Amino acid sequence: MIRIEEARFDQIPAMRQVAIASYADTFADSNTPENLRAFFDSAYNLPQLEQEFHEPESKLYLALDDAEVVGFVRLRRSNEVTSYLGENVIELQRLYVLTEAQGKSVGRLLMEKAMNYATSNKFEWIWLGVWEKNYKAQQFYARWGFERFSEHTFWMGDDPQVDWLLKKKL
Ligand SMILES: CC(C)(COP(=O)(O)OP(=O)(O)OC[C@H]1O[C@@H](n2cnc3c(N)ncnc32)[C@H](O)[C@@H]1OP(=O)(O)O)[C@@H](O)C(=O)NCCC(=O)NCCS
Repeated sequence: MIRIEEARFDQIPAMRQVAIASYADTFADSNTPENLRAFFDSAYNLPQLEQEFHEPESKLYLALDDAEVVGFVRLRRSNEVTSYLGENVIELQRLYVLTEAQGKSVGRLLMEKAMNYATSNKFEWIWLGVWEKNYKAQQFYARWGFERFSEHTFWMGDDPQVDWLLKKKL
């Protein structure tokens, strides 16, 4: 059975493995190995993730299958979309499930936890960025009622990619 729990500091290395494995499985076909490595080195190095763990008003929830981490979701405050949605917003920054655990409701359980956190903290909007070609995730978010409101450029190594920005009213 899958349990969703707030992450402990000592679980960050396991979360990092899930992030890298899920990201590589999802995006390896559309990116060069060099750009993937550059991205992992800059965004998913252990000290960086440990620092983010302590970021105020951020939340990290893990999906656990027994003791094994099979997915996670990270929420944070950010002022990137203030001009569109105002200040009372929370970003769903990352949502990753191991390939072999996908399609079994792990994503749904993580999303439910994220929504609970967002509504109980009285945020007005939840928003996220998703790559314009990540159709599977787009479909998942559409089913959760997210709607496109803008886009931004995301640098994958030296490759500028377009992320759609999606919002959902809480
Ligand atoms: C997008 C992602 C988080 C969804 O997680 P997931 O665990 O596969 O999600 P779920 O199992 O809850 O739901 C996935 C689909 O399977 C279906 N499903 C869920 N449980 C099911 C079950 N027991 N039997 C059959 N189908 C099921 C759902 O209807 C859902 O369909 P939808 O995508 O059209 O909404 C996951 O695919 C993922 O990590 N992808 C790679 C990383 C990524 O792209 N992250 C997002 C970056 S912005």
